[in-house]
Amino acid sequence: MKNSRDTKLLFELSEAGRRAHRLPACDVPERAVSELLPSGTLANRPPALPELSEPHVVRHFVNLSQLNMSVDTHFYPLGSCTMKYNPKRNERIAAMPGFADLHPYQPEETLQGMLQLLYELQEYLQEISGLPACSLQPAAGAHGELTALWVASAYFRDRGEKRTKVLVPDSAHGTNPASATMAGFETVTVKTTPAGILDMDDFHRRLDERIAVFMITNPNTVGIFEPKMREIADAVHERGGLVYLDGANMNAILGIARPGDFGADMQHYNPHKTFSGPHGGGGPGAGPICVTQKLAPYLPAPIVVKNGDRYRIDYDRPKSIGRVRAFFGNVGVLVRAYCYIRTHGPDGLRRVSENAVLNANYLLSRVKHFLPVPQGHRCMHEFVASAARLKSEKGISAMDLAKRLLDFGFHAPTVYFPLTVKESIMVEPTETESKEMLDAFAETLFRITEEDADLLHNAPHTTPISRPDEVRAARQPTLAWPEGGVGAATQINDESETTRGGQHPPS
Ligand SMILES: Cc1ncc(COP(=O)(O)O)c(C=O)c1O
Repeated sequence: MKNSRDTKLLFELSEAGRRAHRLPACDVPERAVSELLPSGTLANRPPALPELSEPHVVRHFVNLSQLNMSVDTHFYPLGSCTMKYNPKRNERIAAMPGFADLHPYQPEETLQGMLQLLYELQEYLQEISGLPACSLQPAAGAHGELTALWVASAYFRDRGEKRTKVLVPDSAHGTNPASATMAGFETVTVKTTPAGILDMDDFHRRLDERIAVFMITNPNTVGIFEPKMREIADAVHERGGLVYLDGANMNAILGIARPGDFGADMQHYNPHKTFSGPHGGGGPGAGPICVTQKLAPYLPAPIVVKNGDRYRIDYDRPKSIGRVRAFFGNVGVLVRAYCYIRTHGPDGLRRVSENAVLNANYLLSRVKHFLPVPQGHRCMHEFVASAARLKSEKGISAMDLAKRLLDFGFHAPTVYFPLTVKESIMVEPTETESKEMLDAFAETLFRITEEDADLLHNAPHTTPISRPDEVRAARQPTLAWPEGGVGAATQINDESETTRGGQHPPS
């Protein structure tokens, strides 16, 4: 059944004269606005704002909020950019006035609690990664990648070495080559094998004295732990390069394997995937990085240090690459990560990873019977199935499956990433889902693969809009109420509109 909740805009709901609030009568002498403000700042006419009662406004926003799928409302098996369940307790703690109302320019002696938390978080992240220095500043995983590559640049510059190449496997997250390019390096792609691991021949072919950094994701984006990791790291080090570990998949190895121990020189964390925090997505999250001792002097400043039993903000770091974010980054997210780590403790964190891997393997064992999983009968935290056979036999694509899942109340898995698997469907259930939920998901997915292809091509059937043109919606979002009113506002970025050559939103 189509979702019938009201999605009209406030402008469309507006009725002249409706009000949510009335101001009391003025009890001071009135003066004309033109006496108080310079004429150049005054509009010719009042803005055409919508006029509504309070219940209308409340219902509008509550209804809109309920159209979303989220990890708090639905199973959310989005592989790779997973948003795992975040305990609400950590939200409450991060909002406590003693944390939320602090200002970084307060005198250090009034910030001791927060500085202690940040210092200890640095220590925990160092311990978990096996790398002895940390910066909490980056605001997302991608920002952590960029920051670490700047650190690597500063290190090589200091040593008088001119190294220009960053090697990245073809299965890497798109942010890896993007960060390498933004940091001024040439990106060189290394192939992976049909088994989903690094192609060692291609890797050795591309390795030379110009290598600055090899960026590797481990466990990798098809959910496999690279079996030759140590050999890879040794080969990079022999050529004088550094190994960067894209730590987005740390949720699979917490307390089990440490990147510093298997050869990484630098890594980032994605707290939204590992330690309870909002998603960075390049912005308001966190992407702390850890590095080896020789890279520590180049980390962003300031960092928190401890002198005796006092905590201090250390700005005096002459070799630092400088700030990449104000103060210590998004502290509210870091508080959540700290709470998550302290709540679980070392054994609990290990259990998180064990359960994440167990859940992924359980789901894999159910799904592989009707959707082939080309790279392995076992996985780490996630696996990548393929709808290629379904597409050639029945015309049903990965996108069709993903869209149809929405009709059954499941958030879609990631599709078409990594590019190395045809018609890929990447599933990461995470550790907090029950067996019943995993069974329900597998059974629904199976049922969908048996459905009529035409029904699937038009799915979802229960959402307010069906298949938005996501690229156009991202590149040409309609964010303003157009002059022409309702008619002009309905370029909904709908696929059918685009294919029919529908009107384009104002640029
Ligand atoms: C493997 C991998 N690398 C990097 C990133 C980028 O992280 P962020 O989205 O926090 O910028 C992600 C996304 O979560 C990822 O899955």
